Amino acid sequence: MRKKIVAGNWKMNLDYTAGLSLFSEVLNMVNDEVTGSQEVVVCSPYIHLNSLGQLAKENKSVSVGAQNCHQAESGAFTGEISAAMIKSVGAEYVILGHSERRQYFGETDALLAEKVNAALKNNLKPIFCIGETLDERNENRHFNVIKQQLENGIFNLSEEDFSKLVLAYEPVWAIGTGLTATPEQAQEVHAFIRKEIAAKYDDSIADNTTILYGGSCNPKNAAELFSQSDIDGGLIGGASLKSRDFVDIVKTFN
Ligand code: PGA
Repeated sequence: MRKKIVAGNWKMNLDYTAGLSLFSEVLNMVNDEVTGSQEVVVCSPYIHLNSLGQLAKENKSVSVGAQNCHQAESGAFTGEISAAMIKSVGAEYVILGHSERRQYFGETDALLAEKVNAALKNNLKPIFCIGETLDERNENRHFNVIKQQLENGIFNLSEEDFSKLVLAYEPVWAIGTGLTATPEQAQEVHAFIRKEIAAKYDDSIADNTTILYGGSCNPKNAAELFSQSDIDGGLIGGASLKSRDFVDIVKTFN
């Protein structure tokens, strides 16, 4: 059985104190909600990671992740953070390929392939994001765009490495806009992604790959989205900044 995951993406929000108190609230509320095949992840800004990593180690019901990493092991890259550094403070995940990184920081599929390698080499699990813009969907190019992102970003991986990834389908037009893909629209793309994985690798790898939905997911729409057969949870932006909303989304699995 593939893992069900609800992952929060705090983006560039919350100072150190506010981040710690949100995380403590989530830990307190989530404790009894997480069952065996389910995982809760919080991806915070770098400044929180060390403290959240410590708390996560003691608590065990929530894992911690970063939102980006540099592709190099170390070196003269002022202002950057390596996968090894992220791993060293107790994080287990790193979001890679988020559309905001692609759009505002010019991250290409080729660069993302390098970042995925750096993360895997350091035993960090990438949450690899893919998704089309509104224009691409309106022009009916979304399946092609997603296929390209898969082929250029992660289909170069060995079976063993690919099995360590979590994927997130995030239609760019649904991120932070309040517009959510309908469960049918999301399911259609998730099924397509799983079919592409099966064609590239095999059915069992495709069956075992966790594919999250992201884009204006909230406590009201999560249950219907997560009930689709190929949707294995969510990557949650805005709603992860309120402990009640985030934990209500986690609870939709129960
Ligand atoms: P949103 O963000 O839930 O605020 O739309 C999701 C994401 O960007 O991961």
